[in-house]
Amino acid sequence: MPVFNLSINGRSRAVDVEGDTPLLWVLRDHLGLTGTKFGCGLGVCGSCTLHVDGEAQRACQLPVSQVKGKITTIEGLSAKGDHPVQKAWIACDVAQCGYCQPGQIMQACALLKQHAHPTDAQIDAGMAENICRCGTYLRIRDAIHLAAKGGVK
Ligand code: FES
Ligand code: FES
Repeated sequence: MPVFNLSINGRSRAVDVEGDTPLLWVLRDHLGLTGTKFGCGLGVCGSCTLHVDGEAQRACQLPVSQVKGKITTIEGLSAKGDHPVQKAWIACDVAQCGYCQPGQIMQACALLKQHAHPTDAQIDAGMAENICRCGTYLRIRDAIHLAAKGGVK
């Protein structure tokens, strides 16, 4: 099998997998990075959201052979879980079961790069493709506003 060299969370990682293996499975099964979650496998739920060069991408839809750029997963967002968005999430007690939340947080970080002070409408549009079966959408919106305001000190 071919070897692919990936930049993940600031580290260079070599993986020996078929080129059509989705990045999601490379992370979870080959590298033990299980923070990125499997939901639909079809690109429609957002639970597998991570960043490639700072842009939100769906890891289930990215064949490893086509990944170009620096990958950041929820594990690499901050060293101690203290990224401003993560702190806002905790302050707003956003998570319920928690399953969708890594993807939600990664999507929210990408949204805040585009809109430093997003309106409700911008949040709803930017987060629309991240599904939460527990219905935490209003707390997600609150947490994004809190992070945009400078977050939790
Ligand atoms: S698992 Fe990737 S979008 Fe649902
Ligand atoms: S917190 Fe349960 S799916 Fe979102």
